[in-house]
Amino acid sequence: MSGRSNGKASIGKPKIAVLGMGHVGLPTALGMAELGWEVLGADSNPKTIAVLKEGRSWFYEPDLEPLLKKHLDSGLFIPTDDVDGAIASATVLFVCVGTPQGDDGKADLAQIENIARTVARNLNGYKLIVEKSTVPAITAQWVKKTIARYAEVENRSAGKGSGNGKKVRDNHAIPEFDVASNPEFLQEGKAVENFFHPDRIVIGVDSERAQKLLESIYRPLNCPIVVTNPTTSELIKHTANAFLSAKISFINMVSDICEAVGADVVNVARGIGLDPRIGMGFLSAGIGFGGYCFPKDLRAFAHLGEEHGVDCALLREVERINTRRIERFIKKVRKALWVVQGKTIGVLGLAFKPLTDDIREAPALKIIEGLLREGASVRLYDPEGMPNAQRVLPEKPGRVTYCHSSYEAATGAHALLILTEWAEFKEIDLPKVRGLMEVPVLVDGRNIYNPAEAHRAGFEYHCMGRESMGHHFPILAREKQAPRRKRAVAAAKPAKANGKLPAVVS
Ligand code: UGA
Repeated sequence: MSGRSNGKASIGKPKIAVLGMGHVGLPTALGMAELGWEVLGADSNPKTIAVLKEGRSWFYEPDLEPLLKKHLDSGLFIPTDDVDGAIASATVLFVCVGTPQGDDGKADLAQIENIARTVARNLNGYKLIVEKSTVPAITAQWVKKTIARYAEVENRSAGKGSGNGKKVRDNHAIPEFDVASNPEFLQEGKAVENFFHPDRIVIGVDSERAQKLLESIYRPLNCPIVVTNPTTSELIKHTANAFLSAKISFINMVSDICEAVGADVVNVARGIGLDPRIGMGFLSAGIGFGGYCFPKDLRAFAHLGEEHGVDCALLREVERINTRRIERFIKKVRKALWVVQGKTIGVLGLAFKPLTDDIREAPALKIIEGLLREGASVRLYDPEGMPNAQRVLPEKPGRVTYCHSSYEAATGAHALLILTEWAEFKEIDLPKVRGLMEVPVLVDGRNIYNPAEAHRAGFEYHCMGRESMGHHFPILAREKQAPRRKRAVAAAKPAKANGKLPAVVS
């Protein structure tokens, strides 16, 4: 997308500014510093910048802080809250600001527009503006138009302000600029690894100058580079996220069929995934996808298609299947516990996926809210996600308890739920957990355990799309140890709403 570019390449070692120091911008900025570029990391939030200057990231992302410290020291990464200044002093501007969901699922592009206007104010020489945020098709065209429009306004007001009635700048004086699309495919929790080992880089350009600049930045990463026009590039990002979401909803639908007919979804996924036309990735059945990207991007993509008269029922169904995972899982908990009211439920995992503290659109939180509505008490643990979770779901004595470990969350529980597949949950000492629980019921929303092993460890084990094990044993572990007479008394008593179960569950 060229704004008056003559298409000639003149490449020195231009300065880079990354605008927006979030989950995309910060890893991108530090990755580029590691590649040897001088990078300004700009964000209008002074608190974010103050934290970065101290060598700390404001969100959890593996390997990010060492890279931050390294390049604060090397001087290649300079955080700043002066966005205008960063734009004025850099040549390549990577736009990594948020594109939250607006009305009707449409992407809210106010922050993108704001950046375009800020660029217009600071267009003091050639600049390449690169969209990295996920944006709907034709956003690059709008960015180009907005920069040109407001740069001309700046021009006119500069003319008015000259005092002698003559314009000091005119339209022809607006410096050249290009707008390109370069979508990111970084996954939270793997952002640094993904930056240095991408499967591919996509660049959407319409000038040779922009193409050469972007290729010179990415060449050291040694991966295929797909060069196309900006609109196609924008669509590639939406299509990738929609396709991956569709894979997840597809396997989740298959998971429900597996449960109904007694098949095993893990083996179905392996059986189909080994076919390279299908691939193994994103075929883990469970409680569905969450996070800041898939749910919002899927809605924005469907919205875009429908706006142009395209039938996007396929995308809408992907979303519907995902939404229904929450109730489906809660039903599983109900089936395991019979009555949820008054039960204590341990929960392992709050973040929308492992290796992040991000809880946005996390399925875990929706499930917890559902169980609280049914009168359960919850004991929660996540290795990184608890501070963020506490902000939306504060501690409430007797109802919502945050714990320091998996074992603490399991203590006294009538069921333990696995809602995020953190590696440390796979490694817990299951017999020890069982000994701490009031009732050894394990409901695994992410299929992290081998059902036979979980059962051998003494659990009644419920999972997703695989055979649940042990939910017919008549007498529970704790009760087995109780003396005969006490057991008979307990069995005769009605269930109490104080969180204690009757002694026999069938
Ligand atoms: C996703 C894409 O994978 C990235 O390529 C993209 O750059 C990013 O969105 C973005 O648009 O910024 P991310 O949201 O960080 O990355 O996380 P994913 O690893 O894709 O997981 C998304 C959700 O799907 C998680 O809730 C995860 O638990 C769920 N999931 C994933 C499944 O339920 N099953 C699977 O087999 C895989």
